[in-house]
Amino acid sequence: MLGNHKPIALLRSLGIRSLGSNLLSDTQRLYLLSNNMPTRLAVLISGNGSNLQALIDAIRMRMLDAEIVIVVSNRKDAYGLERATKAGIATRYHPLQPYRAAGQERSEYDAALAEIVAAYKPDWIVLAGWMHILSDVFLQRFPYRVINLHPALPGQFPGINAIQRAFEAYQAGKIKKTGIMVHLVPDEQVDSGPILATQEVLIYPSDTLEMLEKRVHQSEHQVLVGAIHRLIAGDGDE
Ligand code: GRF
Repeated sequence: MLGNHKPIALLRSLGIRSLGSNLLSDTQRLYLLSNNMPTRLAVLISGNGSNLQALIDAIRMRMLDAEIVIVVSNRKDAYGLERATKAGIATRYHPLQPYRAAGQERSEYDAALAEIVAAYKPDWIVLAGWMHILSDVFLQRFPYRVINLHPALPGQFPGINAIQRAFEAYQAGKIKKTGIMVHLVPDEQVDSGPILATQEVLIYPSDTLEMLEKRVHQSEHQVLVGAIHRLIAGDGDE
């Protein structure tokens, strides 16, 4: 798991610098073929799953050399679960409530979540609208392999209702624009970590909250796919 080597990295590890196929032995060729697998994504959701859908569509259109191996939701009625099932992707419902009812710690919930996810051997874990803060119990299991999407620019409006808070700040004359970011999740801090991509989203005087939400979500779909595309390419260059 974690380190689904791509051909270029494999060639290097085999000491091969030229791509001339006659340089490869049968064993080397088999090794390359067996490892040239799409990058494995685990996607964690809590709701609509429009960003999950953007990933599903990008994979289908071969814009992403990836496979979604599992979708986990903490909410049973998350529409994203239906989207996943329709696309033939395995799903798991992992609610917090039973842990709370049994007096168990959040770390126990996260440890069980990590077990579920790890079983699918993902290369990357994408938080696409996952509404729980992940504790170190989970994050340390997948160091620097967890990606979060947040509908605000770095350092602005961490936490829930970010679009609404940006809209209100715009109306109060405090900001002129908002944006989105995709970042790595190295620790328990909310919506913060090494930035993989950002994009500004303009706010217009005639905007309603719904109009701004729609523009932010459209932007998210593109930027998330682009960021994961670059990560996958980066894995190949390791
Ligand atoms: C997105 O705005 C994402 O940035 C935030 O939650 C929302 C999820 O939307 N963390 P969807 O479920 O992908 O439609």
